[in-house]
Amino acid sequence: MAALAAARLTRPSALHALAPLRLASCSSLIARTGPSTALNHRLDGSHRRRLHQAAPLAHENPLGIPRREANPAPKLPRRGGPPPRSRIRGVKNIIVVASGKGGVGKSTVAANLALALAKTSPLGRAPRVGLLDLDIFGPSVPMLMGLDHAGEPAMNEQNKLLPLQNHGIKTMSIGYLLPPDPNTPVVWRGLMVQKAVQQLLFDVDWTDGQGDLDVLVIDMPPGTGDVQLSLGQLVVVDGAVIVSTPQDIALIDARKGVAMFQKVNVPITGLLLNMSHYTCSSCSVPHELFGSADKFTKAANELGLEVLGNVPLVTSVSDGGDAGRPVMTQSSPEGDEVRSTMRSVAERVWDWLASRPRENVGVRG
Ligand SMILES: Nc1ncnc2c1ncn2[C@@H]1O[C@H](COP(=O)(O)OP(=O)(O)OP(=O)(O)O)[C@@H](O)[C@H]1O
Ligand SMILES: [Mg+2]
Repeated sequence: MAALAAARLTRPSALHALAPLRLASCSSLIARTGPSTALNHRLDGSHRRRLHQAAPLAHENPLGIPRREANPAPKLPRRGGPPPRSRIRGVKNIIVVASGKGGVGKSTVAANLALALAKTSPLGRAPRVGLLDLDIFGPSVPMLMGLDHAGEPAMNEQNKLLPLQNHGIKTMSIGYLLPPDPNTPVVWRGLMVQKAVQQLLFDVDWTDGQGDLDVLVIDMPPGTGDVQLSLGQLVVVDGAVIVSTPQDIALIDARKGVAMFQKVNVPITGLLLNMSHYTCSSCSVPHELFGSADKFTKAANELGLEVLGNVPLVTSVSDGGDAGRPVMTQSSPEGDEVRSTMRSVAERVWDWLASRPRENVGVRG
């Protein structure tokens, strides 16, 4: 925690070290966002992390992490080609959970997939699994994993953030670094978002002295924008699980998500149909409330993709998410079908990872 306190103290002075060019672009940002933000930051004597205020001045360092000159993360080019993709130090495999569509259950699936991967190891030992929340504007991982009151992450001697852990899963989210008021939005432009993604990718110590993570699950924001592009350009992603609900409107956006990842060379592991059916307590047959699972499978076949599983709509999934106890950590019979589906999805993901050829790329972080 001493390092974290030091981090807070060094943030305002680190601003003076910004190169003139950066200061020039800062001034233009401040001009666009209003001077009070910058003033508040400089006059802030409380040393509390105030990302929403500091943001316009710190667009090269949105998370306020002290600099790591020894091994800086790659700079995103403003012109020319993208930097070479690399692997993240301390992370063996990366699986992203994504969809073009919002609200289809990406975060819920990501949290439960991380837990399912931890429970279905083909490695002959308990696997080390992490969960990274890349949803900058709407982070869900802190609440889903019961870590929303866990406080800020500490930092190691190399000024890397140390993940917060619960249910045996190491997690990192911008949600841990935001001011405590949950109603404060992150209002950032594209460049800030890209830098924040870069810091979340390369400035976290996933090993923490215990060995590399076997798999890092990344919860993506909805859409096909800056975060997805930055991720695809910066790191080698081993597979994407695309989540969709059965409605046509969700499928259209899921298709866009697939096309986007294919464009940035992210291989698609398969599609996951979420909220595929609902069986009420007095029903003997499942009801397909949002559309036909068969139609979904047909759409997947047309895309040349497999359906990894059909996850039913179950109250304990949403209740568990709100309570920080994902359904994979529960034992109520109501969640049995979801758990067995997620275990089978996890097994397929492990198989997928084992069968992938390894790209020979550098390691960063
Ligand atoms: N299988 C399910 N059964 C019941 N509720 C579910 C299920 N999957 C997701 N939910 C609920 O649906 C809501 C949306 O889920 P979630 O936040 O995971 O979606 P998302 O795709 O990550 O959203 P966003 O695009 O905003 O990030 C949550 O309240 C979650 O608890
Ligand atoms: Mg989400």
